[in-house]
Amino acid sequence: MTLHARILGAAAGGGLPQWNCGCTNCNLARAGAIPAQTQSSVAVSGNGRDWAILNASPDIREQMARTPELHPTGLRDLPLRSVLVTNGDIDHVAGLLVLRESQSFTLFATPEIHAVLGANPIFDALRPDCVTRAPVALDTPFELAPELSAQLFAVPGKVPLYLEGEEVVTDLEGEQTVGVELRAGGSRAFYIPGCAKLTPALAARLKGADLVMFDGTLWSDDEMIAAGLSAKTGQRMGHISISGPEGSLAAFERLGVPKRIFVHMNNSNPALRPDSEERARIEAAGWIIGQDGMEVRL
Ligand code: MLT
Ligand code: MN
Ligand code: ZN
Repeated sequence: MTLHARILGAAAGGGLPQWNCGCTNCNLARAGAIPAQTQSSVAVSGNGRDWAILNASPDIREQMARTPELHPTGLRDLPLRSVLVTNGDIDHVAGLLVLRESQSFTLFATPEIHAVLGANPIFDALRPDCVTRAPVALDTPFELAPELSAQLFAVPGKVPLYLEGEEVVTDLEGEQTVGVELRAGGSRAFYIPGCAKLTPALAARLKGADLVMFDGTLWSDDEMIAAGLSAKTGQRMGHISISGPEGSLAAFERLGVPKRIFVHMNNSNPALRPDSEERARIEAAGWIIGQDGMEVRL
């Protein structure tokens, strides 16, 4: 048994390039000058045969097509055992609609996220006789796939954009935004694509893990405002920044995690440019900028 992860999509919602975006990074990606990245998803396995997908991005069709481990092994036999979603955001659930071809798998999420999906009849396209919707309680281990155990835990975040009311709490801790702890063959890994801040409790949980794939949405909190792309800060979107005294680089400094990979990068993030100063600072701090197709074995 060995924990095996493959990043299917390293970008945040929108991807790189984003369809309607003419920012520097999106234009560079369109021109082929920097690598394009698809939307937020990771495939994981504890034995190299049975796989689970963490977050179903709208790009899942293309992501599965270019990942041999996930290809059919028979007419309708797939190594995919389950799909888990960490929140109800469109970049993490829209891909479920692509998986509607009468294929069996288990859909794991918290009861609150299942309620969000259940309230939207379009997801009934996942036929109940094929797709088992399994609600998972926080802080309770379960089998995500054969020889791969997982546990969900609350991380500070917010409700999906399409469910935001007048008042938005951006560091809510409950069932709306979760991280995933994975265990296989004595290794411990975490996948946390959305997180508003690294609380002391979360830091204690991550301490000494073998691998953390973490929210790398933005380099700096006002990055989208400065680029003229949006009026929102990272905090308003429920995402911690990489840089700054409260940022993830600083927060992880003493956590003793040997392998740290940023995922869910927004297309505005300068670290998506391999020659940027920000990428150099991130790499100097021992982090890796996730890329589509990147593989980790523990
Ligand atoms: C996010 O990560 O903040 C969301 O995916 C944003 C969105 O829904 O577009
Ligand atoms: Mn997102
Ligand atoms: Zn852009």
